[in-house]
Amino acid sequence: MYRQRLELTDRVAVVTGGSRGIGLAVVTALEEFGAIVVIADVLDEAGTAAAASFESGRVSYVHLDVTDAAEVERVFAEVAARRGSVDILVTSAGIANHQPSLELERETWDRVLAVNATGTFWCAREAARHMQERGGSIVAIGSMSGELANAPQRQAAYNASKGAVHLAVKSLAIEFAERGIRVNAVAPGYVGTELTKEGVPTDWWDDCWVRRTPMGRLGAPEEIGSLVAFLASDAASYMTGSVVLIDGGYSAW
Ligand SMILES: NC(=O)c1ccc[n+]([C@@H]2O[C@H](COP(=O)([O-])OP(=O)(O)OC[C@H]3O[C@@H](n4cnc5c(N)ncnc54)[C@H](O)[C@@H]3O)[C@@H](O)[C@H]2O)c1
Repeated sequence: MYRQRLELTDRVAVVTGGSRGIGLAVVTALEEFGAIVVIADVLDEAGTAAAASFESGRVSYVHLDVTDAAEVERVFAEVAARRGSVDILVTSAGIANHQPSLELERETWDRVLAVNATGTFWCAREAARHMQERGGSIVAIGSMSGELANAPQRQAAYNASKGAVHLAVKSLAIEFAERGIRVNAVAPGYVGTELTKEGVPTDWWDDCWVRRTPMGRLGAPEEIGSLVAFLASDAASYMTGSVVLIDGGYSAW
């Protein structure tokens, strides 16, 4: 019974930001549990190659910029029409910036909020419209940075965007519960991906992030993938509105 509740056989899942990093690990986990997965991303070459690498033929790629509301609406309608439903949404599309707040341009603030917060909300809302009949599970990739202001990087826009994701998740969980749609967030600590490396001095990794993490290492994308697969499945049937930290103990200090 317990094993069966983890199965996602023929559930239709959309994973934004699934071309690489945590999103791709999520795609791999969902596919392994039997889901039909659509990667929705702006990295067309990487996404197409990633989809083709799954021998099952159950993974496909579609171009989607999550900041474009009309495109979001069109892509979810197309997936529902072609696959018959949308059962799972994982929002992993995200960008980061590191800049002292006194130097931060308005454009950067707007872009980070547009991708991370508004993009997540718009995809969640659109997915929910297609989940209303049969229910579904939405998992947003938030961040421990939505719960605490970590250092030494200066990333007020990123932290604010992830805080917004966490509270939107709780709000949507309440609104959608009566429709059988569960909404949760996963809040990772430091995970070794391109996003973590971008614009960051390498000594931050070991001297700051790893040293402050009780488990003494960064997380791996697949460690996030397995938690997301659990939340997406019926094994998490009594979970909604939760923000689950997964950070090697970083936030336990
Ligand atoms: N890596 C970490 O340490 C870490 C920690 C906490 C939270 N997160 C979150 O996890 C998520 C995935 O991050 P990652 O580390 O895998 O980064 P990544 O850069 O490897 O992957 C992010 C993906 O999002 C896609 N993307 C960016 N803008 C997009 C847009 N407008 N529309 C559609 N897709 C878009 C990118 O093309 C990329 O494929 C992000 O939301 C990030 O904030 C990451």
